[in-house]
Amino acid sequence: MRNNTMLNILITGGTDGLGFKLVESYAKKGANIITTGRETENNVRQKFPDSVKYIQADQTNPRAAAEKISATFQSLNWTKCDLAILNAGAGYVYDPFSEDINKLKETLAVNLYSPIQISLAISPALLLAGGQLTLIGSVAHKGAEKFASYSAAKAGQHGFIRALSEEWRGRAIAQIIHPGAMMTNMHTKADFNTDKIRFLFTPLNIAARAVERQISKGITPVTVGIRSRIRGSFTGWRNN
Ligand SMILES: NC(=O)c1ccc[n+]([C@@H]2O[C@H](COP(=O)([O-])OP(=O)(O)OC[C@H]3O[C@@H](n4cnc5c(N)ncnc54)[C@H](OP(=O)(O)O)[C@@H]3O)[C@@H](O)[C@H]2O)c1
Repeated sequence: MRNNTMLNILITGGTDGLGFKLVESYAKKGANIITTGRETENNVRQKFPDSVKYIQADQTNPRAAAEKISATFQSLNWTKCDLAILNAGAGYVYDPFSEDINKLKETLAVNLYSPIQISLAISPALLLAGGQLTLIGSVAHKGAEKFASYSAAKAGQHGFIRALSEEWRGRAIAQIIHPGAMMTNMHTKADFNTDKIRFLFTPLNIAARAVERQISKGITPVTVGIRSRIRGSFTGWRNN
């Protein structure tokens, strides 16, 4: 990636966790940022600097979310997008033999259909900029117990990025980053009690810096996990 100053950057799922950290970091570097979430603007506005444009785009409805993002690009006259980090994600813990069909649809909508529809909606702006699309996948793309459809969605993202990398070769970068477990609120939201294993998770600051570093390299696919955690413990990235 070029210098972050004045770049147009889209970050989905900026209200919490990894997305929030990335919004903070790129905003400090002077980028123009659009971020999204499922909350109303009133509920989250105070989290972000004035320079960050927030839009409510609930990914349980992928088409509506993609249309809202496209409309915001138009209203801000973003003909070019230098970097799109499609980070919003959610999962549920369940026994795959008794998964509720609505939860299955939601998991696929948020984690797979939405990233695909948003990618396609913004691809003209990415291609015009010679930009970079980065999906935040998960090590669960290889399969994670009690998270079968989430794992399937993340594996789907992986396949999608492999295909786009071929389609876009030489014109724009399509990347997927697969983080390992990070200390965010995602597990609580998923009703997943992580008390006994949380000490193994990567602190959010360390994970976010490692993700940002991989974004700047643009290599795909890439995993961010235990090595970043160990490296971070030597470099003092543990604060907050
Ligand atoms: N945490 C981990 O251990 C881990 C490991 C591997 C991969 N990941 C992936 O990393 C990414 C970030 O996760 P995180 O850990 O930072 O989780 P997080 O703290 O829960 O943040 C997820 C973000 O996505 C948003 N989001 C959730 N459902 C949405 C929906 N229906 N429509 C729009 N936005 C929605 C959340 O909004 P709200 O603020 O409303 O919840 C939040 O802004 C996800 O793609 C996740 O799958 C996480």
